Amino acid sequence: MLYYKEKVNMNYNLRNARFLMPNGIEEEQGFHFSKTYSLEKPYEYDPKHVINEITKIKECDYLELGVDQGHTFDHIKNVKLKHGIDPFGASENITHRMTSQMFFSMNEYFFNNTYDLIFIDAIHLFPVVQQEIHDSLKILNDNGLLVLHDTCPNKESSQKILYSDFEKILNDVLCCEEKERLKWHENTKKNQPVGYNGDVWKNAAWYRSNTDYTVFSIPDACISIISKKKMKSFEHKSKIKNLTFEKMTWGLYYNCFHQIMNPFTFDYFVENISKELL
Ligand SMILES: C[S@@+](CC[C@H](N)C(=O)[O-])C[C@H]1O[C@@H](n2cnc3c(N)ncnc32)[C@H](O)[C@@H]1O
Repeated sequence: MLYYKEKVNMNYNLRNARFLMPNGIEEEQGFHFSKTYSLEKPYEYDPKHVINEITKIKECDYLELGVDQGHTFDHIKNVKLKHGIDPFGASENITHRMTSQMFFSMNEYFFNNTYDLIFIDAIHLFPVVQQEIHDSLKILNDNGLLVLHDTCPNKESSQKILYSDFEKILNDVLCCEEKERLKWHENTKKNQPVGYNGDVWKNAAWYRSNTDYTVFSIPDACISIISKKKMKSFEHKSKIKNLTFEKMTWGLYYNCFHQIMNPFTFDYFVENISKELL
């Protein structure tokens, strides 16, 4: 119900006015409410399409957290180094059979690897991903990029975090019983269980709102990108500042999608990414 109230309020918003957003968040001037995105649009691209556009332009050392069956990992081309982390994934190409948390610790002590491109796609819970981003930024080369998956849910239930769903993940996905795990994951999209995107969108929104990194999204592929280097083509001036976890409600996401997620089409991304990386 709150969502509808917020929506009605938003209809009164005027261009170039300073006004109060849902949750009493004050927004910068120059906001345009017009949406070029329908959140109901199906995802047309996979993360591998986005990642391969990057590796086409720039030779990368690549790291993937959460490989599973290798739908992305096994198809990444033109990389100098390719490391995939997953304790239980089915792909034979996984290089480190451990959790990402274990990997970051081992890397700090022993491996000392750094990467140009890190794809984060393991457990889709805000606090876990927040830690993975923090650790990834430490081993990301200066012009490097972080790619986060599942940041553009198209309905409220897809990003709702319920303990019962994560209990299912703990019991079925994070176990050595490959059959059970695959059954769960293969059916995820068909059955659309609550929480299949998780609340990773909040990680992208948080970084966009609280840091100077360039953060933008490609909803066509349900991903967001965090760049250490400023990327002019993907900057969007108007953004909401100082978001906290409590302020990041579905109402805010839905009504202020452009500002908090900074979306671009896949075609725009392909046209513009090369000038930012070369
Ligand atoms: C959504 S799937 C990965 C999908 C894959 N990246 C792709 O594009 O097809 C999530 C995977 O993360 C793995 N995982 C869960 N917790 C993890 C952790 N703490 N560290 C690394 N991987 C984890 C699971 O075993 C599962 O295979």
